[in-house]
Amino acid sequence: MLKGKHIVLGISGGIAAYKSAHLLRLLVKQGAEVQVVITPNGKEFITPATLAALSGKPVVSEFFAANTGEWHSHVDLGLWADLMVVAPATASTIGKMANGIADNMLITTYLSAKEQVMVAPAMDLDMWSHPSTQRNISTLRRDGVIIIEPASGELASGLCGKGRMEEPEAIVDAIKSYFRKSETLAGKKVVITAGPTYENIDPVRFIGNYSSGKMGFALAEEFAGRGADVTLVAGPVSLETENTHIKRLNVVSAQEMHDVCLSAAEGADCVVLAAAVADYTPETVSETKIKREQEDSMALRLKRNPDIAASLGREKGDRVLVGFALETDHETENALHKLRKKNLDWIVLNSLRDPEAGFMKDTNKVTIIGKDGSTSSFPAKSKREVAADIVEAVLPSLKSQE
Ligand code: C5P
Repeated sequence: MLKGKHIVLGISGGIAAYKSAHLLRLLVKQGAEVQVVITPNGKEFITPATLAALSGKPVVSEFFAANTGEWHSHVDLGLWADLMVVAPATASTIGKMANGIADNMLITTYLSAKEQVMVAPAMDLDMWSHPSTQRNISTLRRDGVIIIEPASGELASGLCGKGRMEEPEAIVDAIKSYFRKSETLAGKKVVITAGPTYENIDPVRFIGNYSSGKMGFALAEEFAGRGADVTLVAGPVSLETENTHIKRLNVVSAQEMHDVCLSAAEGADCVVLAAAVADYTPETVSETKIKREQEDSMALRLKRNPDIAASLGREKGDRVLVGFALETDHETENALHKLRKKNLDWIVLNSLRDPEAGFMKDTNKVTIIGKDGSTSSFPAKSKREVAADIVEAVLPSLKSQE
């Protein structure tokens, strides 16, 4: 399972560091290539000589090798690795990771990491439950880091409670299940629309909406994280993609999004329509800036834009179509009506009445409705977590295409 995988094993200064030698041994036995990066305090608990012998590679700890002055490149490590695992992660290392305090090689490596990062915390129970630690853990989760929850039991302090680093065998299981998950959608082609559209009135004005694109971008990361080949058709937003495998196509108007999306959707297994597409566009676009007139009012004639979801629904085949519905009233009824009218397989409903859902928010609260009328409601979560729920819900329809 781990054959040929490149893993960076970060070790920080806690007593649980003695277990890292066993973890390293298990990873190497499974066929992984492991590069150890240790903090200065980590070396107080386990020697680099042990770790170098077990990994078959010199341990990286300092920015420069003391004898040769050679620079250790954290950027190269970030590009080499398929996964970074920090075990043990002390409260201090977790705090530095959450806040970008790059004062050692482990943190600079983390900040340059393009790959998934996992963290196995290890500390005393009071440190673990402290609001500061919990805040930092939440930040890391929001940043996409996988947390391997500490176990409960006897702690080095003699106290008993939650904070013990998970056993190496359980960490290896979590690593394997990550790699398994990252290949679930290998070979599947997914197209996602995200963000608003801008409909030009004249060279300086447009009709737009408040969509931030965050939901669509989170979906793109989530699908790509499971190995899908993702094309993200993005309206004008200021977001960046993290996963380097996402192909991003920037568009501005609804017509442009329609054309780009339909051509990207050829041969796609799944299309997720998360964009807030303008329903209407000015009938004519003035080539020059429209001047203020004497009249107190002015009329703007609009014409209907193409409906991307409905166009795709008309020539559906076995492609899985997922739409969104942002409703203010009769939510479920309206969402189901939309699902049927546009011939979708799934519709994700969020209500504007909900303070934790909707435009520009980092959280969303959704109900996922299937074409058979099945509904699953979820509590308010970060958009990344909501994206994971949506992917989980549509996975069976994607798998059944095979
Ligand atoms: O009809 P309504 O705009 O509420 O439908 C919402 C769903 O349809 C969303 O998934 C949205 O992305 C999609 N849509 C579209 N093209 C449009 C309008 C909406 O793909 N022109």
